[in-house]
Formats: sequence, structure tokens, C-alpha cells
Amino acid sequence: MNMNYANTEYVKIDRQDRVITVQLHRPEARNALSSALMHELVDTLRPLDQDPSVGCFVITGSDRFFAAGADIKEMAAKSHMQVTAEDYFAGWEGFTSLRTPKIAAVAGYALGGGCELAMMCDIAFAAESARFGQPELALGVIPGIGGTQRLTGLVGKAKAMDLILTGRTMDAAEAERSGLVARVIPDAQLMAETQAAAVQIAAYSKPAVMAARECVDRALEGGLREGLLYERRVFHGLFATKDQREGMQAFLEKRAPRFTGR
Ligand code: CAA
Repeated sequence: MNMNYANTEYVKIDRQDRVITVQLHRPEARNALSSALMHELVDTLRPLDQDPSVGCFVITGSDRFFAAGADIKEMAAKSHMQVTAEDYFAGWEGFTSLRTPKIAAVAGYALGGGCELAMMCDIAFAAESARFGQPELALGVIPGIGGTQRLTGLVGKAKAMDLILTGRTMDAAEAERSGLVARVIPDAQLMAETQAAAVQIAAYSKPAVMAARECVDRALEGGLREGLLYERRVFHGLFATKDQREGMQAFLEKRAPRFTGR
């Protein structure tokens, strides 16, 4: 069975038997994760999560961009008061609370929120073209959707500090060596190999699969909830700085930022 259905503006859905593949589709913004995209993604997956005939989700982007991060245009003018009052990014908890296993199939850039989205999935597979990074310091802020917490849990403090503090990207081979992704796959085979893994997972008892992933998470997530909230509040706090305005405005104007430490 191969059915296309429930496509929304930014999220394309394909169903093959028990596997749902979700393709982020916002090419003009390099799949930047706007609030609208996030809501479409979560609203689309929530009913499928409850459906016992759905055994696995595959989350992917295009062959060049998994996702270029949170939407800088959307964030640039927000005030500290706004991001705190909205609890900006809290909506992503709707994605992480899905109980059906999620595999990220990453080709091309997974930056900022894109890298964080891959880490919110249970497994990430990388095409050889994949590039991972947390470049938020270049925007005058820090990762705000779990980057400081999940990246450190996956790759350890040394690599997490290197990536977050320098803003450099990591290629697929280094990401696999470091524990960020489970497999590196030639680009042409990324989707087929991911689908095969998803079919295997979906063939098992769904309650048993859900139990397995929740237990694995328990091994790592002691304190994660507090860490995520702390990170989000610190992220919000940086919207009180001139450097956040400058960093995001400079990106939009395609120029180097001039940070003043204020
Ligand atoms: N948000 C909003 N718009 C974005 C975007 C983003 N994260 N990334 C790219 N775009 C937009 C650009 O503004 C540009 O729009 P215009 O055509 O209107 O000028 C369009 O997408 C194409 O972008 P580029 O010309 O830069 O495309 P490229 O192919 O040359 O480069 C890229 C691609 C390397 C991904 C580059 O776009 C890039 O570096 N993007 C920003 C990455 C980034 O800083 N991500 C972190 C975001 S903050 C975050 O995620 C915080 C957090 O923890 C949640």
C-alpha cells in the first residue's frame, strides 16, 4: 500500500503500510522550522501516533537541507517578554512526546533547530552529504530546542563544547564516530535503507517498541526536563540583549555581525 495524504503547506506525508514518512517542505527558507511548520508537523503526527496501525515515523527534508534551524526571520524582532510569555519553542514538546518511534533521515544541512530536530528523534541516519552544527552563537543566542542538553548527552562534553562554542559543522563520518547518528549511508540509498529499518521496527509489537524506546531514554534523560527548561529560559533571556538583535539582523542583511557584548 502506498498512499499520499494529509499533505499540509510545509509537511508532505507518505504512507507505506505501517510506516509514515514526513518530508519537511519549505525549500525557500531551507526548511527553517517556523512555528507554523512545527504546528503542522505536530498536528499531523499526533493522530497517527495514536493509530495502532502506524508503527514508525521517518522524518526527512530535501536532499540538500534537512532543516536550517529555527526561523530567524520569525525570531529576529521578538522581545524577551514575548519569547517568555509565549514560552517560545515549548510546542516542540508535542513532537518529543510522540510515542511512535521516529527515525531522522538527514541529508545536507541540519543546523541549529535542524540538528536539534534530528536529536529529538529516536534514531538519526545521515547521508554522506549531511552536515550538523549548532551555530546559534553567531546569532547572539544559544541553542534553544535542546541542543545544549541532547548534544552533550550524545557526543559528550568535548565535542558539544567544540561545536556549540565555535559554531563549526560536523560531517557525517564525524557525526557517526561521535555518536550523534547511528549510520552513514550513501545519499542515493538514504531513504531505502531508512525505510527498511522503519519497516523492521514497525513489524514488532507497538507497545513493546514504545516500551523499549522509553526505557532507553530513561538511561539518558535523568535531569533532561530541568535542563531543557533551564536552557529555554536562558535562551529567552538573551532576547534582552542588543547582540541578539544584531546577530539575527546581520544574518538577514547577509553581513557579518558586530557584537558589542551588550
Ligand atoms: N531561518 C529563516 N530563514 C532562513 C534560515 C533560517 N534558519 N536559513 C536560511 N534561511 C533563508 C535565508 O534568509 C534566505 O532567504 P532569502 O531568500 O529571503 O534571502 C533563504 O533561506 C536561502 O538562504 P541562503 O541564501 O543562506 O541559502 P544557502 O543555500 O546559501 O545556505 C544555509 C544555506 C547554510 C543553511 C544558510 O541558509 C544558513 O546558514 N542558515 C542559517 C543557519 C542557522 O543559523 N541556523 C540556526 C538558527 S537559530 C536556531 O535554530 C535556534 C535554536 O536553537 C532553535
